[in-house]
Amino acid sequence: MDDRELCEMARQARSRAYAPYSGYTVGAALLCASGRVYTGCNIENAAFSPSVCAERVAVFKAVSEGNKDFLKIAVCGGRSGQAPAESFPPCGVCRQVLAEFCKKDFVILLAGPDSFEKKSLEQLLPLGFSPDDVDGSKGKTE
Ligand code: THU
Repeated sequence: MDDRELCEMARQARSRAYAPYSGYTVGAALLCASGRVYTGCNIENAAFSPSVCAERVAVFKAVSEGNKDFLKIAVCGGRSGQAPAESFPPCGVCRQVLAEFCKKDFVILLAGPDSFEKKSLEQLLPLGFSPDDVDGSKGKTE
């Protein structure tokens, strides 16, 4: 699974977004060390707060199926019915969720319509709070 393929999976996942309230659709594709890819899309709700981002759907699908050794994630987003934005930035909450399971060098691919930018988790979440800050023997070091 190369970077371009993972970005394409994120674009496809975006087409399954349920975003009738914001009109903004997001897709994510998370590659695990096992080689398995978990995709996610944003899923909104009439009560608003139960809405969930695409990245967290992908992460929680993976963790709930016993996979938490992540290699990289591709993300893309944009106005519903339009091409993805050139560079879609994941929200702060999703960056924090990734920091629970990933090291600083974890790769985040920001997929545009037909290219992508490569960032590390550290670049997107500098001075991030991680399981090591709570207890070095827990979380991702386990
Ligand atoms: N959204 C995501 O799915 N991921 C992000 O990182 C940022 C925002 C979703 C949430 C909401 O459904 C829509 O995009 C507009 O904020």
